[in-house]
Amino acid sequence: MSIMADPAPASAGEDAWKRVRDQYPVQQPLLNLNNAAVSPPPLVVQEAMIDAYRFISRNPDYNMWSKLDTALPGIKRELAELIDCSPDEIALNRNSSEGLSTAIFGIPLDKGDQVIISDWDYPSVREGWFQRVQRDGIEVFNCAFDLLDDDNDVVEAYVKLMTPRTRVLQLTHMYHWNGRVLPIKRLCDLARERNIITLVDGAQTFAQMPVSFRELDCDFFITSLHKWLGAPVGNGMLIVNRRRIDQTWPLLAPFDQPAVGIDKFDHWNLGTYNSAIQSGIAPAIQLHKEIGAARIHARLRELTRYWIGHARNIPGFRLHTPLDTHELGAIGLFSVDGMDMRRLESDLREKYRVHVKYRKVQDIEGLRVSPHVYMVKSDLDIFVSALRDALGTSAVQSAL
Ligand SMILES: Cc1ncc(COP(=O)(O)O)c(C=O)c1O
Repeated sequence: MSIMADPAPASAGEDAWKRVRDQYPVQQPLLNLNNAAVSPPPLVVQEAMIDAYRFISRNPDYNMWSKLDTALPGIKRELAELIDCSPDEIALNRNSSEGLSTAIFGIPLDKGDQVIISDWDYPSVREGWFQRVQRDGIEVFNCAFDLLDDDNDVVEAYVKLMTPRTRVLQLTHMYHWNGRVLPIKRLCDLARERNIITLVDGAQTFAQMPVSFRELDCDFFITSLHKWLGAPVGNGMLIVNRRRIDQTWPLLAPFDQPAVGIDKFDHWNLGTYNSAIQSGIAPAIQLHKEIGAARIHARLRELTRYWIGHARNIPGFRLHTPLDTHELGAIGLFSVDGMDMRRLESDLREKYRVHVKYRKVQDIEGLRVSPHVYMVKSDLDIFVSALRDALGTSAVQSAL
């Protein structure tokens, strides 16, 4: 029987999700509510990777490059199908940080060219652009808006900063701080009309929700495969739109001469690394497809609404994540008025074995909670009850 007996997205019952949980290693000793950082690999993924590592160890050179790597074109075709791009626009690398740096440092820019970023972009992304200010004399403009602002206000804030000298628009699809999703397609359309290159940090969206690269029509889309897809740690994907491949520099000088097409960014040209981790990508895709991208997104939204519905009547509870949106996924950020949130994070871990993540950005400080599909509602009951206990409040039921 397939894992999900019921084909309708979002309507699979808890039993079906318990079958999904059985596909994953038991999380212990902590209840793992920080999947936005890295998620555990499903058991089949773990096994595929370990088998591949044993295989490599018997004859490393031959078994990596002449054997295991022959599977990569097929893996790229499957990834391309999932995210709706061409396999020859995909480079496999180690993580989002690597893909982001490849784009940030690889786009040719001259002194005085302008780039727009925001306060909420990933810290190493901002730092990469600040380095280009120092290295190349470009100008970086910071788009200021509130994480809970309406989409129209956010779009307006970006458009206001666009000038004839703007060359790049740096965007984050879903902020890892609070799970807010930006209207990326609208922003990319506006940028394209002005000949502005778009670089989308999709570390948190790919495999958490359905994403179509063609529909977004951005120039670069970057993600990690070890977050929501569940591939082994150390797998990333850089998608470069065909129209941008030739003119973009690779981050590492390529071995291949001449460096042709997407290969200049690809693992072939990133020096020697452990191909065994790539053997876990295909089984991760397989399980993802079996459950279904839309169903995964609907379930993650359901889990987030579930714990928030049970926690929101805690005195002083403050939510920093937009709840009433179809784009809500697995990430929710909350704080409790008057409480030391860093202390609460460590109390939850030390006393209750619940792992959530303290996050502080600008004037927002709170705990980020990110369940994954291998979790069931009773896991979230454990978390909410630990939270109430840690805060010294009594359990009161509430639901959205
Ligand atoms: C929005 C965003 N961008 C980039 C990254 C970096 O990803 P990695 O650590 O896999 O390179 C993260 C990681 O959490 C992220 O959330």
